[in-house]
Amino acid sequence: MARRALEELRSQRWFASDDMRGFSHRQRTQQMGMRREEFLNKPVVAILNTWSDLSPCHAHLRERAEAVKRGIWQVGGYPVELPALSVGEVMVKPTTMLYRNLLAMEVEEILRSHPVDGAVLLGGCDKSTPGLLMGAISMDIPVIYCPAGPMSNGQWRGQKTGAGTHTKKYWDELRAGNISPQDWVDLESRMTRSIGTCNTMGTASTMTSIVDAMGLTLPGASSIPAADSGHTRMASACGARIVEMIWEDLKPSQIIDARSFRNGLVAYMALGGSTNAAVHLVAMARRAGVPLNLDDMSEMAGKVPVCANLFPSGEYLMEDFYFAGGLLALLKKLESHLEPNALTVNGRNLGENLVGADCWNDDVIRDPSNPVVPLSRGKTLAVLRGNLAPNGAVMKSSAANPRFLKHAGPAIVFDSPAAMNAAIDDPDLDVTEDSVLVLRNAGPVGAPGMPEWGNLPIPKKLLKQGIRDMVRICDGRMSGTHYGTCILHVSPEAAVGGPLGLLKTGDLVELDVEAGRLDMRVDVAELERRRAEWKPTAPVYRRSFAALYQRHVSQADEGCDFDFLSAPGPVAEPAIY
Ligand code: FES
Ligand code: MG
Repeated sequence: MARRALEELRSQRWFASDDMRGFSHRQRTQQMGMRREEFLNKPVVAILNTWSDLSPCHAHLRERAEAVKRGIWQVGGYPVELPALSVGEVMVKPTTMLYRNLLAMEVEEILRSHPVDGAVLLGGCDKSTPGLLMGAISMDIPVIYCPAGPMSNGQWRGQKTGAGTHTKKYWDELRAGNISPQDWVDLESRMTRSIGTCNTMGTASTMTSIVDAMGLTLPGASSIPAADSGHTRMASACGARIVEMIWEDLKPSQIIDARSFRNGLVAYMALGGSTNAAVHLVAMARRAGVPLNLDDMSEMAGKVPVCANLFPSGEYLMEDFYFAGGLLALLKKLESHLEPNALTVNGRNLGENLVGADCWNDDVIRDPSNPVVPLSRGKTLAVLRGNLAPNGAVMKSSAANPRFLKHAGPAIVFDSPAAMNAAIDDPDLDVTEDSVLVLRNAGPVGAPGMPEWGNLPIPKKLLKQGIRDMVRICDGRMSGTHYGTCILHVSPEAAVGGPLGLLKTGDLVELDVEAGRLDMRVDVAELERRRAEWKPTAPVYRRSFAALYQRHVSQADEGCDFDFLSAPGPVAEPAIY
């Protein structure tokens, strides 16, 4: 690959000029104890670090940044660590999704306003991957994604426990009276035993694996457990490689195209990945100027069955997946679906990166001829449309009870989580397992931020009868670690006048996943009457980021990006005077 001249590096505009500003930039760098030889005439590499004390998934990223720096120094770069918003899934309320676009904006502006030639992006917890990459795609300077890596396997009383998946499972068992309050306390310290992202195929591993398949990480990096020494070596290798990428001027726009998205979708479906990815991928694609919609995803889901035997669709954890050969072994088994010529950050194409990718455990990483969930039984992503969701809704039918995939039942509608929580365990609630539980005003505008409220709790009286799944509908999202017959991302959402807002308790709802239908059986005249009476119930924020968000966010089927950010880049370079 051709090597750029030093003068072409954007950092040279700051450091090489012999005017007063250039003096200040050099002077102030020396103020930090750097010798001129240490930073002048070198590529300057940003390490965008989403570490925080409230993000357990990223707890090790300060140390990993040191490894990245080591790699950068060794090949003649100058590393600068820059903190970026940490969108840790567990602690950030009401939802990290409210802040994904804020992180994306921050990344774009940090990279734009500073003297950096490229960046290593350190993240991994759900929204951090799309947030970091959306900003980087728009900025379009060389970047490499360094995923935080999944936490180590968990066990409790001889049973595998996966983050998120088993929290939900044992919560239901506690409410059903099958485990004791003391068991529940014990679980607290047993379920998540190391640093790193969720060890199930939740949104974190879904997104890091997808961007790995898209060529934005070092090959296979997404599968390396956070606590493995190989993870530190991978971080160092990211540092060494980004310096070369800067000289080669290998930018996201050369890596991301329709082929790389296709490869990402193959990984997504084969992993049984999170429904959340359906939102993030549309947002990323729009920023890159690549056409991609929900139907493209469901089409791929109809071709590639779930082959990774991982919770919540299967029964293993990410460490098992890594030992079985990880993402590269999975992709190798799906080679016929892939675009082998798609370029990746290591300068080689995906096909070359898959040479020699072996699978060491055919139960963890299944052959497509022996999938975890056959296509006839369920897909990673099904798209539904009808008079309840004209622009689409999604569900992971592979993680749903097959009995409900064609279903009709009366709706029980909640307008808020508070209303739901007040009623759901009431012994007098008129509910059976055939009821359809609905939570609305949980969309991008309504909540705002489209929280993960879509896995509505099963009413306690049904739990006690042994029932663990029901049809649930929401205009919000669901954790990728969860499972059940949950119809999500209903678009348009209730708060902007979507028909979900017109549904009433007792209306018959019909679901037919194979036909891709979601309808309410309410006649047109009655719907018109209800529409005339409809008033938005969601709060409209007058100030704060939430106000900006509500004004500019797009609907779920459009990626929930801001209208003023979703056009393809590149952004203008700042003036330096
Ligand atoms: Fe961070 Fe699951 S909570 S990855
Ligand atoms: Mg999650």
